[in-house]
Amino acid sequence: SVLEMEVEQIKKGDFDHFMKKEIHEQPDSLTTSMRGRLKDGVVGLGGLKDHMRTIRRSRRIIFIGCGTSYHAALAARPIMEELTDIPVTMEIASDMLDRKALIFKEDTAVFVSQSGETADTLLALEYALQHGALCVGVTNTVGSTLARKTHCGVHINAGCEIGVASTKAYTCQIVVMVMMALAIGSDKMSTLAQREAIIAGLTKLPEKVHDVLKLDGEMKALAQSLIEEQSLLMFGRGNNYATALEGALKVKEVALMHSEGMLAGEMKHGPLALVDEYLPIIVIATHDDSFSKQQSVIQQLHARKGRLIVMCSEGDASLVCPDGRSRVIEVPRVVDCLQPIINIIPMQLLAYHLTVLRGYNVDQPRNLAKSVTTQ
Ligand code: AGP
Repeated sequence: SVLEMEVEQIKKGDFDHFMKKEIHEQPDSLTTSMRGRLKDGVVGLGGLKDHMRTIRRSRRIIFIGCGTSYHAALAARPIMEELTDIPVTMEIASDMLDRKALIFKEDTAVFVSQSGETADTLLALEYALQHGALCVGVTNTVGSTLARKTHCGVHINAGCEIGVASTKAYTCQIVVMVMMALAIGSDKMSTLAQREAIIAGLTKLPEKVHDVLKLDGEMKALAQSLIEEQSLLMFGRGNNYATALEGALKVKEVALMHSEGMLAGEMKHGPLALVDEYLPIIVIATHDDSFSKQQSVIQQLHARKGRLIVMCSEGDASLVCPDGRSRVIEVPRVVDCLQPIINIIPMQLLAYHLTVLRGYNVDQPRNLAKSVTTQ
């Protein structure tokens, strides 16, 4: 109705679409996510306090989710393992059910869902509860089924997300899971300096996100150069494997363009055969402990005349692209475990602009629903 349309326009404020509004809200949503949880260099997560002993004693942490929420967990996995010394395994909710995956009462199962109502995730939760695991929820929706049925959990407080493509919830989910890693690992003296550096990084994060959002115009120009393409690959590894998967999901979901995120370490085991001078490939090569490996991936792709778009840290352009042949996206550098939060933002902007330029519906892509409440 006309009234509904007007209400929608008011909620969008100065933005043309919810997706754009939600992308640009991220400095604020991240601030809200962290509010009251980082005091005097200590992470306090009230929702987990009473279960901390059980979590620390668990034999394994299992991250469970679908789509973007699964990717957020994948982004947080390395730091969770590093700070807690507990092995972390990943489960896509539907696959966990299909396989009737093994799960034990010594496990901590962390369920990640923006809506808290995704059918596959809730069924996986039922399954984990039946098997006696400690079940932790990470959700954006207070009072959701996920929030009610888990033993404990953390709300991400990203604010209402309306666009079908998840953007601000993704970055807030990562921040919350990094804070969980800090809280669970806070009894270890050996990582004190690292934990302090991460907490300092969290404090500065909203400002860095604000800076990376300035790439909007550059990403629009990049989108313009890609509108006619059939396909787009994204290579990442380590902390940024999730960035490649999530960037590709955004592009396929809203821009309706085929896109695959791949583990760069797997490139020579198959995908390399796709490389030619036409297929656009985004390589994520920001400056972390996988940087030198990504530099050699770039060299190998150059040797096959690949059409590269390289994402690197500010000041690294000449290192990733000495001959000036590829397109470079320079982003601010932050501590390694927070870098995926910075790196996904240009990909969100790219997906957004690609969609608008290709003339598709950004906020409600065809065939998709915001929360998938059926199996
Ligand atoms: C994200 O852009 C997608 N719309 C989709 O993958 C989504 O993340 C998935 O359906 C899970 O939703 P949830 O976080 O509400 O459980």
